[in-house]
Amino acid sequence: MKQSGFEFEGKDLLITGGAGFIGVNLIRSLLPIKGVLRVLDNLSAGKAQDLDNLPAELIVADIRDRQAVDEAMAGAKIVIHLAAHTGVADSVADPHMDMSINVQGTLNLLEAAVSHKIERFIFASTGGAIVGDVDPPVHEEMSPHPVSPYGASKLAGEGYCSAFWGSYGLKTISLRFSNVYGPYSYHKGSVVAKFFRQIQAGEQLSIYGDGEQTRDFLFVKDLCQAIAAAIQVEIPYGQPIQLGTGRETSVNKLVDLMRQTVGRENFPPVTYLPTRPGEVQRNFVAISRARKYLNFSPQTKLIDGLKQTCEWFQKIP
Ligand SMILES: NC(=O)c1ccc[n+]([C@@H]2O[C@H](COP(=O)([O-])OP(=O)(O)OC[C@H]3O[C@@H](n4cnc5c(N)ncnc54)[C@H](O)[C@@H]3O)[C@@H](O)[C@H]2O)c1
Repeated sequence: MKQSGFEFEGKDLLITGGAGFIGVNLIRSLLPIKGVLRVLDNLSAGKAQDLDNLPAELIVADIRDRQAVDEAMAGAKIVIHLAAHTGVADSVADPHMDMSINVQGTLNLLEAAVSHKIERFIFASTGGAIVGDVDPPVHEEMSPHPVSPYGASKLAGEGYCSAFWGSYGLKTISLRFSNVYGPYSYHKGSVVAKFFRQIQAGEQLSIYGDGEQTRDFLFVKDLCQAIAAAIQVEIPYGQPIQLGTGRETSVNKLVDLMRQTVGRENFPPVTYLPTRPGEVQRNFVAISRARKYLNFSPQTKLIDGLKQTCEWFQKIP
């Protein structure tokens, strides 16, 4: 890992979508930090109270609003762009809405980043949704075949990040997250968050398909270490880096581990529903580029990450 020697404090950072699941965990993982960082979030999914007691100034605005983006970016050096429309099924129902946030919003931020002379622009991308239904492990050299509008919009975002490095010298890094889980995910539609919500409510769990579809579940604290490293190291810009654990876990196996975490006596019944369109069957990722450039080495075992997530869910009212 080549250190750039780049040191930062709160005022250098703008985190879009910083009131969301990953944003709140990221801010916590950067503590202690000198000064106050800025968050730009329209609170369509994130919650202002999750930023309580954190050194973060919240600007409630939409990333498609150029004036608000300019105001939020003034004085910053690093942009971590997490704000997005994140629902795969919703993107199938309304691809235009998904495109306007994930593509136009990202382009808006990139243009602003050039005019504000931003030193580094980190883009939250995705692996499986971009490459589509392929034989895993998913890696950065695979040609993209998104099967959902969400995947297509993230691919477009990566394309603009590459183009802004190529055309304007903006130092962009696209980090492709696998399936991230952990605390502060209450509002998420992802399988771990949804199942913990249903368990809490005593509702039966619904699995789409036969449950043998696989994912690469990455604990959010491990992800945040990689994002923090991406702020500071020298890496090839304009190119994607895949993040995950490299391990493949079926949804049925995940449910078994959640049952161990919660206890059999408190575990609701499980039903199986038809497969949803736009979902990939198998996904786990290769992380050699992340190891090489970010010294990435995710340490959290799935069962331990699930325990920490479960404890967080149990604490919320
Ligand atoms: N969670 C995962 O497993 C996962 C996997 C791959 C990629 N990602 C990407 O990581 C990023 C963060 O995801 P997350 O899981 O924290 O989702 P999240 O929904 O919790 O966070 C996204 C945040 O963006 C905000 N937002 C949405 N639209 C906005 C807009 N138009 N203007 C301003 N703010 C807006 C929301 O209010 C929310 O706080 C997203 O870009 C997502 O696509 C997440």
